[in-house]
Amino acid sequence: MTERLTIRRPDDWHLHLRDGAMLRAVLPETARHFARAIIMPNLVPPVVTGADATAYRDRIMAALPEGMQFTPLMTLYLTEQTDPDDVAAAHASGLITAVKLYPAGATTNSQSGVRNLDHVRPVLERMAEIGLPLCIHGEVTDPATDIFDREEAFLNGVLRPLTQEIPDLKITLEHITTHHGIRFVREAEGDVAGTITTHHLMINRNHMLAGGIRPHYYCLPIVKRASHQRALIAAATSGDPRFFLGTDSAPHLDHAKISECGCAGVFSAPNTMSCLAQLFEEYEALDKLEAFTSLNGPARYGLPVNEETITLEKRDTPCNYPAKYHTPDGTLTLFDPTVPLYWHVLD
Ligand code: NCD
Ligand code: ZN
Ligand code: ZN
Repeated sequence: MTERLTIRRPDDWHLHLRDGAMLRAVLPETARHFARAIIMPNLVPPVVTGADATAYRDRIMAALPEGMQFTPLMTLYLTEQTDPDDVAAAHASGLITAVKLYPAGATTNSQSGVRNLDHVRPVLERMAEIGLPLCIHGEVTDPATDIFDREEAFLNGVLRPLTQEIPDLKITLEHITTHHGIRFVREAEGDVAGTITTHHLMINRNHMLAGGIRPHYYCLPIVKRASHQRALIAAATSGDPRFFLGTDSAPHLDHAKISECGCAGVFSAPNTMSCLAQLFEEYEALDKLEAFTSLNGPARYGLPVNEETITLEKRDTPCNYPAKYHTPDGTLTLFDPTVPLYWHVLD
């Protein structure tokens, strides 16, 4: 028997589209299922000014194949030189949806990020005034802090004080990977919501490290133990409006992943909706899928929900997403959810 589920078209509240040939390769994969996405600004060089964001948005729209609909929700990359007036103007004109904070050195292309929060305080205060959300990669960069503890250390050492000092600042704690992060959002004194990725819901660190090292599961924040994964699943499937999907689909060419020093990032845009339908079904929460992928995010960002819908169909035969995607510069590998997926997205 086939089972069908129709939900409002989803949005992706954390996505890397890159640029050039990679952008052209991955954009259709997102636009096929998602109406909108928050576009990460960590290009080389980063998207820092309103002018950079306008130019990047134009390149994205130029790369969108004929006949496909997609709205990129642009962000600015916060640096210690960011001008509060430029940010406010980009917000007022409707160009940007959020500003992104990368602690300098925390992740891919974060070198131009923030070393000292005091240096960006005027921008953050202005954002609180005008209601512009701040998206945060929440990890400390102190080399002495264990990589598995960097999110928790950030919550206590950086985010809590920030929410106390600027309680009106709308914050999205992105790609939450620990039960500490989930709890932080639930108990936050400030105005905090959180995104959860596909891969952090589907895998834990055993998938990455037990029985062989699997570089395609290496991402930041690094995947944690199964008890954290369970907390993420519980939050995502709860319907709690503070949690919603940000895939963090972050493509890197295979030769950059399979290397002595491989890049962090998982490419999950094509099969995310199949993964999530299967996971939510397993946790008897299919009725909460639409909230997680299509309702909670727009509500949080003050945007209308999508009027269009997508339909997923559960079949006896597994989905056959290609394992590899091709670009003129090389191949990239799709996220392997470790189990066959039976929920097909009907195009
Ligand atoms: C992202 C990337 O490749 O740009 N990588 C990742 O592992 N998540 C950066 C980020 O979101 O931290
Ligand atoms: Zn990040
Ligand atoms: Zn990311």
